[in-house]
Amino acid sequence: MVSAASTAGADAGFQRACGTPALPSTPLRFILYFVARYRWCYLAMLLLETANASCGILVPYAVNRIIKGVVGAQGQSMGLVEALQTPLLLFVGFCLGELVFGRAAGAIQIRLGPRQRQNVTRQLYHYLQHHSHGYLANNFAGALAHRISETSMGVTQTLWSLITEFWPIAIVIGVSVVLLFHAHPQLGGFAALWAAGFVGLSYVLARRCQPHAHRASAARSETTGTVVDSVANLTSAKLFARLGFEREHLDGVLRQELKAVRRSNGYSERVRWFQFSSAAALKIGVLWFALQLWGRGLIGVGDFVMAVSLCLLIINEARNLSRRFLEFFEYVGNVSNGVSTIVRPHELVDRPQAPPLQVRQGRVELRGVDFGYAAGHPVFRRLDVTIPAGQSVGLVGLSGSGKSTFVSLLLRLYDPQGGAVLIDGQDIRSTTQASLHAQLSLIPQDPTLFHRSLMENIRYGRPEASDAEVVEAARLASAHDFIARIPEGYQSMVGERGVKLSGGQRQRIAIARVILKDAPIVILDEATSSLDSITEKAIQDTLERVMHGKTVIVVAHRLSTIAHLDRILVFHQGEIVEDGSHEELLARRGAFYALWSKQAEGFLPEAEGRPGPAAEPAAGPGVMTTGPASGLAPRPELPEPVLPEDDEPQGRHAPPDIALA
Ligand SMILES: Nc1ncnc2c1ncn2[C@@H]1O[C@H](COP(=O)(O)OP(=O)(O)OP(=O)(O)O)[C@@H](O)[C@H]1O
Ligand SMILES: [Mg+2]
Repeated sequence: MVSAASTAGADAGFQRACGTPALPSTPLRFILYFVARYRWCYLAMLLLETANASCGILVPYAVNRIIKGVVGAQGQSMGLVEALQTPLLLFVGFCLGELVFGRAAGAIQIRLGPRQRQNVTRQLYHYLQHHSHGYLANNFAGALAHRISETSMGVTQTLWSLITEFWPIAIVIGVSVVLLFHAHPQLGGFAALWAAGFVGLSYVLARRCQPHAHRASAARSETTGTVVDSVANLTSAKLFARLGFEREHLDGVLRQELKAVRRSNGYSERVRWFQFSSAAALKIGVLWFALQLWGRGLIGVGDFVMAVSLCLLIINEARNLSRRFLEFFEYVGNVSNGVSTIVRPHELVDRPQAPPLQVRQGRVELRGVDFGYAAGHPVFRRLDVTIPAGQSVGLVGLSGSGKSTFVSLLLRLYDPQGGAVLIDGQDIRSTTQASLHAQLSLIPQDPTLFHRSLMENIRYGRPEASDAEVVEAARLASAHDFIARIPEGYQSMVGERGVKLSGGQRQRIAIARVILKDAPIVILDEATSSLDSITEKAIQDTLERVMHGKTVIVVAHRLSTIAHLDRILVFHQGEIVEDGSHEELLARRGAFYALWSKQAEGFLPEAEGRPGPAAEPAAGPGVMTTGPASGLAPRPELPEPVLPEDDEPQGRHAPPDIALA
């Protein structure tokens, strides 16, 4: 459901559809928003990871105590057992603790991770649903889906990095430094200095490495994109005998990728040099230092062994710290990308406490509408149109004249910059979008279907419809016969966006679901353009019956398909230049007459010159190649209707193309 009101989002002045999650628009706050929901689980994980890392780092301390015990007992077996009791218990306790705490944290992680990912996906998707048609037109569907998936992964990965990687490293280094200080302040000081230098440099190197890694990853994506594009067009490549060209094209992209990846790998290798030399410096330094201190009797053999074990542990934990930083930045970057693309103010929101639209009759009115997609390029200037309830209206005009834009404004896919769109006297901006869309039906020129069964696709018009009602709607839309011929019938899947159906079959499914929806206002934007003349005629008869009494708006290029409507509006460069019935417009011999006559020659003019007033049609007035006049012998594909020779039209002309009876 579209929300009933708009409220400020998490940020002041941030327009967000009411009912959508209040997602923060910066990556850090976005992550914290999701942490807050499972805060106790994260806190438990943090404590368990702390205990786990502490136990791990305290094992060398227990070994130190054992060695001290062995050295102190000096061969007396009874004393040895007593002296070793506590250190051994500590040793066993720390080992067990490491195991138990580590696995307990793991148990939380495997449950929390997938749930958190789903939670982020669900909320981002909910937020995305309320973006406008304009937003969706400017962002690729695939890219948005990819962003949602990367962001949901990014949130969990960022948190795991912090909790299971950086936090344990901090504990290990912190506790080690304390233990080494305890053994001897100079040892502790050396380890502390090393750790500060190592972590700081790792961070700096990772930041420097980031652009290289980014370029390498972009180059890999580019290769994948090229392969996908090439595979998708493989048949074209074959038919143009350009297979070799495609391989060369791929080689070019691969060379670029190789360059970027080599540069990135080369940098990583240098970082590794730094890490291994730092590790060696720590090992040699601590060994040398500890030997010096032991030689001077400042530390015992136990402290010596502990110091060496601790520095091995630190090296083990801190290894690949630069890589971890790099991954961390990548995760944060993914979250940031997703948040900046999706968590933007919603463009069209319902007003607070907006009431639902009440359609009693279905009167449509555009009052002084100003609209343009971009500033300085108006499509409509102070457009006024009133369509009385129950009227059927055809919209015609050259390509780009504003017909679809008119329809988009009725559907509130965009808001006009001036004026208002009213339905039964209610400004559609003051009602809820959900109620508006529940009462308007659109059959678009190229309807896309869900990759679900035909039954589900048709039932989308009215979810509570019974199977029998779905079948009846399909029958009315002339879809039942072709569905019945498919082996799985209504249960067959239609492929992504309905690709397994022909254009005309998709249109019929779209018509069936609109018949099932039974809304009081219906808009057909070239809704039958992909159908053959016979099916089109059958469907138009049905539509006329089914839509009797409704307000119907039909956009059509084939003028024959709208000749029978109550009224025709002729659009030209965003203006309505003619308005009247088919007969009136033909009699006027203006723009519509020019279009009609041109179509009689078999085409519509493409040029943007204002159509009409018409010269005499080339082949004599009204020699149609697209449809027979009543009474003439029908020829389905090339009929020859004749317009009356005098200026006074004689009743309704048989629409070309479909008057086959
Ligand atoms: N999403 C958009 N962004 C920017 N400009 C657009 C957009 N959609 C349409 N236009 C422009 O608005 C004008 C009117 O286009 P519209 O789609 O309403 O024409 P139309 O009459 O439906 O044409 P057709 O018969 O080809 O479908 C055109 O100049 C078109 O380029
Ligand atoms: Mg259009």
